[in-house]
Amino acid sequence: MKIGIPVETTSGETRVAMVPGMVTAFTRLEHEVIIQKNAGASSFISDEEFEKAGASIVDDAKSLFAGADVIFKVQPPSADEVKMMRDGAIYMGYLAPLSNHETLNAMNAKKVTSFATEFIPRISRAQSMDTLSSMATLAGYKAVLIAANHLGKIFPLLMTAAGSIPPANTFILGAGVAGLQAIATAKRLGSRVEAFDPRPAVEEQVKSLGATFVHMEVPEENVETTGGYAKQQSDAFLIAEQEAIGARLPKVDVIITTAQIFGKAAPILITEKMVKMMRPGSVIIDLAIEGGGNCELSEAGKTVVKHGVTIVGTLNLPATLPINGSGMFSKNLLNLFKNIFQNEDNSLDFDEEVTAGACITHAGEIQNDLVKKSITGGNA
Ligand code: NAI
Repeated sequence: MKIGIPVETTSGETRVAMVPGMVTAFTRLEHEVIIQKNAGASSFISDEEFEKAGASIVDDAKSLFAGADVIFKVQPPSADEVKMMRDGAIYMGYLAPLSNHETLNAMNAKKVTSFATEFIPRISRAQSMDTLSSMATLAGYKAVLIAANHLGKIFPLLMTAAGSIPPANTFILGAGVAGLQAIATAKRLGSRVEAFDPRPAVEEQVKSLGATFVHMEVPEENVETTGGYAKQQSDAFLIAEQEAIGARLPKVDVIITTAQIFGKAAPILITEKMVKMMRPGSVIIDLAIEGGGNCELSEAGKTVVKHGVTIVGTLNLPATLPINGSGMFSKNLLNLFKNIFQNEDNSLDFDEEVTAGACITHAGEIQNDLVKKSITGGNA
């Protein structure tokens, strides 16, 4: 098959859906790779490097989209980009299918078969294909560095001739992939770290990184879906959680929030009243900002200072690390591609769990029930 890699057109996106090492891997599998001119520039990859690895360079988006059997992208394609694709082509990458309905309509009109990496099922076998996980790892790491940069004090304990300096206190809310990486990074920088997550299984993982798991007096609830995601909590749960968080705030220097509920708005864990309880100079990094944010005062894409607290709502942190971001994303796509196209004739097997779970459009129709519901408003 011919795999096409276009330039990412979303503002601020620096990643590219294939790196030279993956071009070599695909050509070894006897596929062809075409890359739009300059597609790797923001990831510091030149067209020459792609050519050396075995890819051909195509001058413009139109020829790229029209010339490929399969399109790999990081950011969801626009409807106009889909209109340039071949009839019956295949798409793999982020798709945001619960909100990106115009793109899905364009895909159905062209009978594009699309696979949204956000919908890859959370089974062990699929970990190597999961872009959400790999990008969350980068976001968790970068969140700590940004916090350290804004904080007017150092992270580690230091005994100096000018006196001893106590370590900074970091509080991580939500210890999934991003939260665990944030814990590990803050520990490496020498901070004292506490964390909370409603999923009890997380306690062991938090402790294994040397952080303290905070036990909160919250109502007992069924907290986890069979798919491995946290369930939406009740208002009573969130109020109790806010109270427990509030009790710790006067001592905290950095809060990194990562709490998300798949397909829903992020829960509010820090209200304005709670921000006022924090020490001036403290920092909140809201990693859930793309889902609306965990802090009431976060502003998407901005860093603001409210009541003396710096609140960072930077979007798309993985794009600040394009070398690893592109490398991990494209390795995930290689693994997904190999999993989906296991048959010699490249036919699709919808009985296979990852293929079935990640497929959003096929043969002119939406395949995924949750996406169907998002379009019909619940009447799927
Ligand atoms: P996520 O990005 O959906 O959410 C982040 C974290 O926020 C989760 O740990 C969630 O429990 C937590 N959270 C939700 N509501 C909260 C609240 N009110 N207060 C505090 N925290 C709250 O989750 P992520 O990082 O994608 O991982 C969730 C789980 O799924 C992890 O155990 C991870 O290891 C697992 N996973 C498994 C995969 C696989 O097996 N293929 C792939 C990716 C993740």
